[in-house]
Amino acid sequence: MAAAETEGCTTTRVRVLPHPDLCPAGTEFDAPHGRRLVDALLAQGIAIEHACEKVCACATCHVHLREGTGAVRPADDAEEDQLDTAWGIDAQSRLACCVRLAGTELVVELPRHTRNHAREI
Ligand code: FES
Repeated sequence: MAAAETEGCTTTRVRVLPHPDLCPAGTEFDAPHGRRLVDALLAQGIAIEHACEKVCACATCHVHLREGTGAVRPADDAEEDQLDTAWGIDAQSRLACCVRLAGTELVVELPRHTRNHAREI
């Protein structure tokens, strides 16, 4: 959804697709605009890794944004550099510590693996 269509809305509906370890049934919740996606996920009890403590230096918070990216600020060079080191990146890959919530809805897929392979199944 384009940013202009979301004016006046102060929260984003975050829909997390099912992940066998971190969120088996999937979930949905609302979180305020401007909040970092990693913080929004952690606040919901989704134990996404964040080895560098959310300073865009580890890529363990890698996620795929499957829908709703139109209102989200694109990745900068530092994020792109870190993404290059993440497992299983695709065109919708982002680092959750670099994404600030915007727009009405965001659909998030958590990768099966992370860079440090701590949750390989
Ligand atoms: S927590 Fe390390 S890059 Fe996001």
